[in-house]
Amino acid sequence: MARVVVFDETGGPQVLRVVEESAGDPGPGEVRVRIEAFAVNRLDELTRRGVSPAPIRLPHARLGCEGTGIIDAVGSGVEGLGVGDAVLITAVPDMTSNGTYADFTVLPAARVIKRPAGLDPVKAAALWVAYSTAYGALAEKAGMRPGDHVLITAASGTVGLAAIQIANQIGAVPIAVTRHTAKKAELLAAGAHAVVATDSEKIAEAAYSHTNGTGVDIILDSVMGPGLADLAKAAKRITGTLVTVGWLDPRPAPYPSNAITTHRYMSFEHTLDPAAVRRIAAFLFAGLRTGALNPTVDKVFALDEIGEAHRYLESGQQALGKIVGVTATAA
Ligand SMILES: NC(=O)c1ccc[n+]([C@@H]2O[C@H](COP(=O)([O-])OP(=O)(O)OC[C@H]3O[C@@H](n4cnc5c(N)ncnc54)[C@H](OP(=O)(O)O)[C@@H]3O)[C@@H](O)[C@H]2O)c1
Repeated sequence: MARVVVFDETGGPQVLRVVEESAGDPGPGEVRVRIEAFAVNRLDELTRRGVSPAPIRLPHARLGCEGTGIIDAVGSGVEGLGVGDAVLITAVPDMTSNGTYADFTVLPAARVIKRPAGLDPVKAAALWVAYSTAYGALAEKAGMRPGDHVLITAASGTVGLAAIQIANQIGAVPIAVTRHTAKKAELLAAGAHAVVATDSEKIAEAAYSHTNGTGVDIILDSVMGPGLADLAKAAKRITGTLVTVGWLDPRPAPYPSNAITTHRYMSFEHTLDPAAVRRIAAFLFAGLRTGALNPTVDKVFALDEIGEAHRYLESGQQALGKIVGVTATAA
């Protein structure tokens, strides 16, 4: 029997419960992964609360859109993967059916890739969603090039920290945004070229002063909300690009009126495409090898503490980096 986190109704962290059930067998083209560690993502919280854009299958819905572990069973027709392979899960489009908050999950083989040797399960669990999103939005969508000034909101969040490292890996110049002056030193230590703290500075003014008055080439925004129009003023006129990836502020977001290119990025645009997954993995694994990329883990919880992990995510006490859950089998 295997433990799995399920919920029968949407609501607060108390709806999550751990049950024991069969691990399930992989069908044709599928693999079963013995999960070692999984990340707790904002999308999971939205799904649990019932406000995710994707359909939620109740009752007995599962949760968790990324994780890492060891393949322990392989269905017919699977090539290039075998029992004992350490893997990263690259996309869980229907997490309420095969979510990763569990000892095991069964997925199409196309949804996993081999985990780089030497990457421990906890760091591996903190890698894929944050780094593939930051890479996809900045490199593939906004066309980030060496020397570009890149303004990154919610920079102490998981996508933001990944974006700082990826910008540095490419030779761009990351400028971090936080709401708290107290976080400036940590963000500079995390690789930001400069930090704008919105409790004491205006974003667009600060961005112009950090770019000799030109404005930034790219804005990566995880926040949206009413601040979006002002944020967009930080971009270079005409040639600037705004790419939004998140909605940490759920209030309505006014569309920017200055003449810049805008994109809305969803990671499934790339993570369900095997060719894009190969490109993303090649870039991220090269960065891990050189040390340019190093996933930041904020706090680790046991699978049985999942309610507490969600309460922590919602508390706003998150310091820097990812909240990770581990099963008993994690290293
Ligand atoms: N498009 C996609 O495919 C995709 C993929 C992954 C994530 N996302 C989305 O991207 C967003 C960021 O994800 P994440 O994992 O980086 O989140 P996260 O790690 O939870 O980000 C936490 C940080 O965001 C900042 N923040 C929180 N609420 C804020 C608010 N209302 N206004 C301004 N800043 C706020 C805080 O930084 P300070 O205290 O320093 O300000 C906080 O430390 C989420 O909305 C998530 O759902 C989208």
